[in-house]
Amino acid sequence: TTTTNATGHQGLHWSSRWAFIMAATGSAVGLGNIWKFPYITGENGGGAFVLVYLACIAIVGLPILIAEVLLGRKGGKSPIASMRDLIREHNAKAGWVSIGTLGTVAAFLILSFYSVIGGWAVNYVGYTFSGDFVGQSSDAVGGIFGSMLADPSTLLFWHSIFMACVLFIVARGVKSGLEKAVTYLMPALFILMVIMVGYAMTTDGFTQGVNFLFNPDFSKLSSEGVLKALGHAFFTLSLGTGVMMAYGSYLDQDVSIAKTSITVGLMDTLVALVAGMAIFPIVFANGMEPSAGPGLIFVSLPMAFGSMSMGTLIGTLFFILLVFAALTSAISLLEPSVEWLEERSGFNRLTATLAAGGAVWFLGIATVLSLNVWSDVHPLGMFAVFEGKTIFDLLDYITANIMLPLAGLLAALYVGWVMKKEDVADELNMSQGALSLFWNVTRYVTPLAVIIVMYKSIMG
Ligand code: PHE
Ligand code: NA
Repeated sequence: TTTTNATGHQGLHWSSRWAFIMAATGSAVGLGNIWKFPYITGENGGGAFVLVYLACIAIVGLPILIAEVLLGRKGGKSPIASMRDLIREHNAKAGWVSIGTLGTVAAFLILSFYSVIGGWAVNYVGYTFSGDFVGQSSDAVGGIFGSMLADPSTLLFWHSIFMACVLFIVARGVKSGLEKAVTYLMPALFILMVIMVGYAMTTDGFTQGVNFLFNPDFSKLSSEGVLKALGHAFFTLSLGTGVMMAYGSYLDQDVSIAKTSITVGLMDTLVALVAGMAIFPIVFANGMEPSAGPGLIFVSLPMAFGSMSMGTLIGTLFFILLVFAALTSAISLLEPSVEWLEERSGFNRLTATLAAGGAVWFLGIATVLSLNVWSDVHPLGMFAVFEGKTIFDLLDYITANIMLPLAGLLAALYVGWVMKKEDVADELNMSQGALSLFWNVTRYVTPLAVIIVMYKSIMG
């Protein structure tokens, strides 16, 4: 039988349901929730963006999460190998394997910049611990962030440290240990963020911050903003990368895929919303701009840590936990490439990890340089959609807003149109009503939503 009581199972048998929830939540909850969600919400005008994002989670994210976990459990192997087997079983076209390959490439590209941001978080553990932000003005705190960005060797150093941690965890196979640690680290991170919301309530920006997040003004939302909300629903739930398929392959047959997926989706959404409620009041209380971009949490939160009581302790703990949340996502991002290399080249685990990780690290240098010496380099600037985008911007934009939605769309289409309804019913094991809801949504609503949003915003 299954249980969600972590402490009751400590050191004993870990149910497959619980292990899945830990690994999947570890992958889902990360920089996407605490760094990216607040800053893209700020850049896209607030409430209307949040509302569309929540709709995307419900209409697109959850059905695709269920579809990917289902494909993973049915295949029982790595995403690419699973798709090959399923294609044979269903007599489907070989092209469907792109659900696995597209995802593997996307995860590789994402990790290259994810690690650079993870490096910022590691660096900020030191800044907060040494009390660098205590009593500082917002200009001074912004200045600390700015000088970090301006210095390629600092960024490269912390990117390297972060990647070294990822490689150590993946190569040594201490992944399961880290996933168990998530049982304590995630709730701790959550509690710290709730404390931050408590602090935010004491500032005079609270009403304005909550209004910004939850009061929709649709005139501020462009069709590109809608695409970004959709892309972020994929990014935040780790969809379209094969990660959830890989984790689904460990799930026992008697576990409810729908219930566990919904649990993961709810936890991820809750963390993002709480992060927003902690950050925006502080932004407004200090006269900062919500549209400040990728630096938003690295300026607003330190401001709060610098002025609240016990801020040095709370801030240091916060960034340590943020690093752990980023690491559990990062190891999941490396996994598909490592598995692919093992299968393809016959490398052993260690060699495959070092090769894939080394390549990710090297590509990360492009993101490091995009933030300073290459900040005026816009490689695809001749296309209107990519105008003004640095290499870092492009990696982020193309993965989240194009590759992940495409791979996820294919997963939904495969489950809805290639698999038979009886097969899907066998896997999902839910009531008739719930099943036909899932079936119709996955066949029609989800694919149409993805296609319309992508078409409208990319084709103009
Ligand atoms: N979901 C992670 C986050 O929100 C990022 C991620 C994307 C992880 C894709 C794995 C795959 O931080
Ligand atoms: Na997330």
